[in-house]
Parts: sequence; C-alpha cells; structure tokens
Amino acid sequence: MIKIEQISKSFKDTKVLKNISFEIKKGDFTAVMGPSGSGKSTLLYSVSGLDSLSEGRVMFEDVNIINLLESELSKFRLTKMGFVFQNAQMLKNLSIFDNIILPGLVAKKESAEKIRKRASKLMKQMEITGIENRDIKEVSGGQLQRAAICRAMINNPEILFLDEPTGALNSEATDQVLEILKDLNRGGMTIMTVTHDQRVAATAKKVLYIRDGQLAACKEFKSNDDRVLELDLWLKELQFPTTNNGI
Ligand SMILES: Nc1ncnc2c1ncn2[C@@H]1O[C@H](COP(=O)(O)OP(=O)(O)O)[C@@H](O)[C@H]1O
Ligand SMILES: [Mg+2]
Repeated sequence: MIKIEQISKSFKDTKVLKNISFEIKKGDFTAVMGPSGSGKSTLLYSVSGLDSLSEGRVMFEDVNIINLLESELSKFRLTKMGFVFQNAQMLKNLSIFDNIILPGLVAKKESAEKIRKRASKLMKQMEITGIENRDIKEVSGGQLQRAAICRAMINNPEILFLDEPTGALNSEATDQVLEILKDLNRGGMTIMTVTHDQRVAATAKKVLYIRDGQLAACKEFKSNDDRVLELDLWLKELQFPTTNNGI
C-alpha cells in the first residue's frame, strides 16, 4: 500500500532521516520506536506527507506523494489518511461531535446526514456515546483521545497515523485506546503509530526501531503470546532506554 524508498530529510545542516526504506501493507499495524529525538515523528510526518523530504520517494499505491502539489496533497490526506496526535488537537470552540464531523464536512464527499450517522456509529464503537454536545474541556483525556480517533476515522481513511497516541494518558485510558486500535486493525484498518510505550508497541504486529535517523532494526511478532516479553528482550538488545520512558 505504501512503499517508502530511501527517504532522507535534513533540517538545515542536520540529517534527521537517513536513507530509510520499508513497506506498509494493507492491514499492517506498525509501531515506530526509538530514543527521544531519533526521528520517529519526522518519519511519520514524512510518510504521511505532512512534511517534505530531501530525498527519496513515498509511493502511496501508484502515487509518489512527494510529487503532489500542496492542494492535491491536502485532499489526499483528508480522504485517505487519518491522524491522531499526542494531544488530541481539537478545536476549542466546537463541541466534541462537531469536531468529529468537521473533516467529513470539509471533504464534501458525502452528505452531512451520512457523516453524522458515521460519527454516531464511531462514537458508539469507541464507547463515548453521550458526550456529543460537550465542550472539549468537559471530557477526560481518554475520552478526548477516543474522540480524536473518531475524527481521524470520519472519512473512512485507508490508513491511520498516530504520534504518541497514549503519551498524555493514564494507564486505564491507554488500555481503552489500545483495545480500539486492536479492534480497528482486526477490522482491516492499516495503522502506523509512533510510540515510546512498550504496551502500545506490543499491540502492533511489526515494530521499526529508529536510531539517529536510521532504521536500526525491524521485528515482526511471531505469535500473540508473550509479546511484551519478546519486545522487552528485543529492546534490551537494542539498548533502548527502557528505564526512562519519558518522551
Ligand atoms: N522543525 C524542525 N526544525 C529543526 N529540527 C527539527 C525539527 N523537527 C525536528 N527536528 C530535529 O530532528 C530530530 C528528530 O526529531 P523528532 O522526529 O521529533 O524525534 P522523535 O519523534 O524521535 O523524538 C531532533 O533532533 C529534532 O531536534
Ligand atoms: Mg516525536
């Protein structure tokens, strides 16, 4: 579905991504780990076209998104990709429900009625029915993040990109978000998430490890058993600083 071919990115004189290649197949659930400042977010933004690249290609099906004009790229992102960030980034002056349907209204691909129906269905699926009319300050962090996932899903994207989706959540809210991601992936949704949280990475099927802007290692979980342990051993081998899980 997405082929990342030898991408590099520099900020002024500093190379933050160095010659990274990998592939995302339909139905994949890929987690990106690595020390703070290693280039995880930059990689996610480059693959999703939120950020420009210095070198390389990002083939989304048969389109090299690097070559798209900004207006084409915005439309591409709006309809084919969903985004969730650490802090939900909802608009303050809109209710939860209006925040969720907004990208649907902007895309203008479907009737408002259809978008509202999908929003209600998504809210039910994420178990946040009842908070539709609340202000974004009137809900918990976990509810807000689940609403952000609803918003990211409103245009039926082909892939969901998440950057530290549980970074601001407590343990219980993290579990809820993980269940949702698992469910979405079981339903066929392709997911790529950046995380420093081993529980999140153990939910994925594949983990990429970024160090100093390079793809240092990649692992695919062999089975569902003992994934946390398997991941922990792998990260120890990579000398991931597991004791300090700060971002
Ligand atoms: N807009 C920017 N301008 C300059 N340097 C940046 C910018 N964004 C990120 N960087 C640098 O790129 C490196 C990788 O950053 P980032 O991708 O955010 O790391 P991570 O998400 O792994 O913590 C860091 O050294 C960071 O300081
Ligand atoms: Mg980051």
